Amino acid sequence: MRAFVRVLLPLVVVLAGLAWAAAALLNGTARAWYEKDVGLRAHLVVAGAREALATHLASGDRRRVGAVLAEIARDDRIMAASVCGRGMRTVARTGVGPSAYECDALGERFGVPAEGERLELDRVEDAEGGLVHFTVQPLLDDDGAVLAHVALVHDLSFVARREAALRRYTAGAFAIVAILASILTVFVRRLSWRTWNEELRRVLTLGRSVPGAGVRSPRKEFQPLLSDVRQLVSDLAAEQGHGTGGRWSAERLHRTLTETLHGEGIVTLANREPYIHDRAADGSMRVLHPASGLVTALEPVMRACSGVWVAHGSGTADRAAVDGHDRVRVPPGEESYAIRRVWLTPEEERGYYYGFANEGLWPLCHVAHTRPVFRAQDWREYQRVNRRFAEAVCEEVDGPDPIVLVQDYHFALAPRMIRERLPRATIISFWHVPWPNAERFGICPWANELLDGMLGSSVVGFHTQLHCNNFFDGVDRFLEARLDRERQSVVLGGRESLVRAYPISIDWPNRWAAEAPPPSECRRQVLAELGLPPDAKLGVGVDRLDYTKGIEERLLAVERLLERFPHLRGRFTFVQLSAPSRTLIDKYRELSERVDAIASRVNARFAEGAWRPIALLRAHHEPPTIFRYLRAADVCYVSSLHDGMNLVAKEFVAARDDERGVLVLSRFTGAARELTEALLVNPYDIEEASAALATAIAMPPDEQAARMRAMRAFVADFNVYRWAGRMLVDAARLRQRDRLSTRLNLGLRSVHEVKP
Ligand code: F6P
Repeated sequence: MRAFVRVLLPLVVVLAGLAWAAAALLNGTARAWYEKDVGLRAHLVVAGAREALATHLASGDRRRVGAVLAEIARDDRIMAASVCGRGMRTVARTGVGPSAYECDALGERFGVPAEGERLELDRVEDAEGGLVHFTVQPLLDDDGAVLAHVALVHDLSFVARREAALRRYTAGAFAIVAILASILTVFVRRLSWRTWNEELRRVLTLGRSVPGAGVRSPRKEFQPLLSDVRQLVSDLAAEQGHGTGGRWSAERLHRTLTETLHGEGIVTLANREPYIHDRAADGSMRVLHPASGLVTALEPVMRACSGVWVAHGSGTADRAAVDGHDRVRVPPGEESYAIRRVWLTPEEERGYYYGFANEGLWPLCHVAHTRPVFRAQDWREYQRVNRRFAEAVCEEVDGPDPIVLVQDYHFALAPRMIRERLPRATIISFWHVPWPNAERFGICPWANELLDGMLGSSVVGFHTQLHCNNFFDGVDRFLEARLDRERQSVVLGGRESLVRAYPISIDWPNRWAAEAPPPSECRRQVLAELGLPPDAKLGVGVDRLDYTKGIEERLLAVERLLERFPHLRGRFTFVQLSAPSRTLIDKYRELSERVDAIASRVNARFAEGAWRPIALLRAHHEPPTIFRYLRAADVCYVSSLHDGMNLVAKEFVAARDDERGVLVLSRFTGAARELTEALLVNPYDIEEASAALATAIAMPPDEQAARMRAMRAFVADFNVYRWAGRMLVDAARLRQRDRLSTRLNLGLRSVHEVKP
């Protein structure tokens, strides 16, 4: 049926159209011919009778004139013939033609010719009985003087009959052609489908699956497909770990690094450090884990790979913790890699971090309706700080071809700067936030410089293919570079950068989930902390206090939930863990005030005794606390207005080894493309979001388990080791190719040199 609709229906429609057009053309032509013939005939008839009519008219013998007309009218096609004398009065007439063609009627319609004036008419008209052709011709004497006019009316109804017949024949002929063409099309389609299938199977199995086919190589047009399939198979095999030890893990990542890239540790450049040394109120030193998706993802990778993490030393006790080279080994007690801290002056931090990175690039990359601010002074600081960090990276490498991971929008210029110092380095950049489309990106006054800086990398990674495409479009619009979208690469200044999607993830098995108490104990503790009864329903949100996270919309959805479902009042509490963030920026301070105001208003509106619907915990929370809340909750709501990935969603999944809890997830996160078993919502649509929260709260345990199991299986497979491993494997391929082509060039040069 589908084949009929897709192939035969259009064919039949086209042929029917052709038949209709052909019939119309043939009929039009035939009709023109008939009319011309009948006109000629009318003139011949009158010419033949002219002499007799002239003689009888001259003698005034009307009877004989009538007899000549009767002779003329014996022809079947002639309906009527008249001789009209002076003043278009009837001299004689014959036949029973329509009254409109009698002499006086013609005189009325076309005017009575004056004495000696000629009236000549030759027309086809639709008369009551059908089509008629009529002529009015002057009857001349030998001297050319007008004696009278002869009117002849021909019956043309035969034309309509012939036209109808012609239409029937044409339709019949085209119907036969349509049937034959359909049969032929079906036959050819089946034949080529079979051939294509056989050839495809030959490609996939190298001839083994096609009996008697032998092992001939596939046809030329199938060769590109063959190499694609082989590549895919080898990628899949590599990713699935065939021959390399199963699912991606810390060990496998480390093996990949040492075996594939012959690397002994990597140098990571990221603004945020994974461990912050802070001076507590009592003067003691404590170590904090910052609230950062980047840190969540990268820290396990660094523990697996070892090396150095170059970052901004932002903690109040950071200086006290480092050695003479500004290094400190972490994680505390494990010490598998080092942090190299770079110190920034307040001006540098204001211009580079708060200014260009977070008032310029952050709102530029997120569709959250905050206008980016671009100041020349901030840009100068951004350039300067990128150079300082690039230099620190170069100080930390242990050879001329190190592996360097450059992270995020804080360091768009660093890859080019590192490349200038270390031309043979393998530089992998990853952009943790969305990449805007070219039109939007173009509002940045330094769009070209940012792109050029990033293309100092060997590999540029984004969370999604859409962001890669946006990046390609930006390069296309702003730089003179060669794009190869099929290979997903950009060549600038003779150097190739791969541009690929690598959706980021978390470690699996997850360290924090493994260390947390059982979910029932977490729940008991959390409910006790919040002063809630054991049967309370609990929702949780975990974010930095950032305007991209949709925290206001989230609280409004909770308000709407309680409006629509009054039975939840007194029973459902939403806990929002919000880490203060970028507090020197006005937009962040304003957001914080608005969130407070909404929470207070909703709490005041629905308060019942000691119960409040919203618990706003505005402080930095360490991962063990966050995981306790995630394990205790019935619902986790991630409502980002725009988010590259959002790892809280994946952490919630990792936290729920009891396969309970429901994730309500904004469609505008990268995570929504992967965690499709979550309840996906548009966070702006408060009705939809509140309905999803209600569904989540009421979801039966077996459905929760089915959804959670599927998401856990996904995150387990697509964990952060796989993310890093895929980038390293791609970088290794590029590196190997570069080495081979360098060797080839050297070889060619030496051949040329020995030539006489
Ligand atoms: O993904 C973007 C990101 O780097 C996240 O890792 C983190 O949540 C945030 O931006 C950076 O926050 P901060 O400005 O506190 O380093």
